[in-house]
Amino acid sequence: MQKVLVTGATGYLGKYVVREFKEQGYVVRALARDPKRLESIREHIDQEHIGEVTDPDSLKGICDGIDLVFSSVGITKQKDGLTYMDVDYRGNKNLLDEARNSGVSKFIFVSVFNLEKMKDLKAVQAKIRFENELMNSGMDYTIISPNGFFSDMLEYLKMAEKGKGYVFGNGEYRINPIHGADLAEVCVKAASGREKEVKVGGPDLFTHNEILMLAFETVKKPVKILKIPIWVRNFILSIARVFTSIKTYGPMEFFMTVLAMDMTAPVYGKRHLKNFFLDNC
Ligand SMILES: NC(=O)c1ccc[n+]([C@@H]2O[C@H](COP(=O)([O-])OP(=O)(O)OC[C@H]3O[C@@H](n4cnc5c(N)ncnc54)[C@H](OP(=O)(O)O)[C@@H]3O)[C@@H](O)[C@H]2O)c1
Repeated sequence: MQKVLVTGATGYLGKYVVREFKEQGYVVRALARDPKRLESIREHIDQEHIGEVTDPDSLKGICDGIDLVFSSVGITKQKDGLTYMDVDYRGNKNLLDEARNSGVSKFIFVSVFNLEKMKDLKAVQAKIRFENELMNSGMDYTIISPNGFFSDMLEYLKMAEKGKGYVFGNGEYRINPIHGADLAEVCVKAASGREKEVKVGGPDLFTHNEILMLAFETVKKPVKILKIPIWVRNFILSIARVFTSIKTYGPMEFFMTVLAMDMTAPVYGKRHLKNFFLDNC
């Protein structure tokens, strides 16, 4: 039986990945810094390792007996006072070092779609730096590059619930977001696949206006969309860059960038945003 270490297991994607590996017959070891955050998936986990990716000592032996490492560790909305370089790069590098020391045969890393178009962003620079470490590590690997998760689309539902939604530019940038369970299938298939890179999005393509309209339809409120000109976005970012620290500015820069560009990725999955909104409103 193959043994997998799932890191990022307490996050939106990681929880689905734990379930999917277990369902496919793997022995699952999960890393968490707070064991309480594993509560909802504990029945799918065989072994727990409590540690911090940013603290190499706490990771000692984490990969012993492990065949495959999966990592969706990264900063999204966490406010721990850490930077992308601390977590997305160095944290994953600490995991990679442990994996190599223990003779792990493959490392699957969750990155971001369209990296090459966002090289100036701090979040992206940390991902690219880790990708380079992984590619040069001599270990077999797959880099999964998804566009946007359904979990992030909940922001649109929240705006609709408040009666007013915002989009950048004319709102016609496009994205095909993906459900965590569909993406987890892609991640687990990568474990036995040969592809080095997998770019992926969900089954339905939307403009941001269309996602907002779907959100308003779900909460049964009249559609009210405010269009924020791109120059206003650029102005906000330039002010934030000067007056806030990278810990505040970084996530803001990342989200304001992906919302103002096309993020159309190769299609996968059968779960639809419409149903996800209905389940979450
Ligand atoms: N969300 C999207 O739309 C999207 C799109 C493309 C790519 N991605 C990438 O996909 C990955 C997973 O996304 P997600 O939405 O599942 O994120 P998430 O729900 O925030 O989960 C992130 C995971 O990383 C862990 N983590 C974060 N900071 C940490 C730290 N300092 N030390 C140890 N662990 C830490 C979290 O642990 P805790 O639970 O303890 O915080 C959690 O397990 C991220 O790398 C993200 O950049 C996301």
